[in-house]
Amino acid sequence: MKDTQRNRQAPTGPLFSFGIIADCQYADIPDMTTFADRRFRLSLQKLRHVAEFFNAKDLQFVVHLGDAIDQDISSFDTIMPVFGRMRAPVLHVLGNHDFSATGGTGQIDRHEVLRKLGLDHPYYSSIVMGWRFIVVDGNEVGVIEYPEGSKEYAKGKALLETLIRAGRVNAQTWNGALGQEQVDWLMSELEEAEKSGQQVVIFSHQSIYPKHRENILNDEELLPRLARYKNLKAFINGHNHDGNYGQYGHLHCVTMHGMVDTAENAYALAHVHDDRIEIEGYGRELSRTLRL
Ligand SMILES: [Fe+2]
Repeated sequence: MKDTQRNRQAPTGPLFSFGIIADCQYADIPDMTTFADRRFRLSLQKLRHVAEFFNAKDLQFVVHLGDAIDQDISSFDTIMPVFGRMRAPVLHVLGNHDFSATGGTGQIDRHEVLRKLGLDHPYYSSIVMGWRFIVVDGNEVGVIEYPEGSKEYAKGKALLETLIRAGRVNAQTWNGALGQEQVDWLMSELEEAEKSGQQVVIFSHQSIYPKHRENILNDEELLPRLARYKNLKAFINGHNHDGNYGQYGHLHCVTMHGMVDTAENAYALAHVHDDRIEIEGYGRELSRTLRL
């Protein structure tokens, strides 16, 4: 009898929804056919399609999980206007390729990359309908964001060398770490969210779990600290274009598929409910239910 009554209840809609894209990685260069099938030019059409699709939905925001471009700072001038067409605000995450933006000068200009992405700061948070969405910069310490010869580059190289000696599989030049100041900020965001009764999702370019060669450099140090916060529900990232998933304690760690790979698109909607986040995948992206 009870079951019958329950079945008669009308299904309830989500509290709110948002759009997810990872690794658009646009550039006006020939396709890669060697170690991956990357269609750099095609990303422009793929992103235009996604903008139209998202604009027909009621979304609180869209997140792009980094690597808006593959290379050359002028690529931003082609791809950013497509993000600009989206009705919902777009949260941009900094990816490693966003700094392959030499524009022929051979120099990385960190401030120029942030300006092109419309970012005042490399990491930030946004509160939406009682949830806190935290964007981190996983390239902050490393050799990605800084020109060779700078003291930041030397510090990043030293960290990489230490991790290579320690045999860490993710000790790769295309990964970085969150610096101490950013980690302190992240912890204070989680504390504040906990006190305010907010649920939290972290958006990052690089992954943190399961163990993978594409993980941020300080994955092992950071993960247990993050997992102490029961209000932190998901860590969502790009970077590894093949996608991935793992659950560390209660924390869902989701790697989204890269848009740039293959002729097929990849993007998703996320529907936030009281007890779950429903990820509705399109193209190569998978659908998943994250139980809270
Ligand atoms: Fe990447």
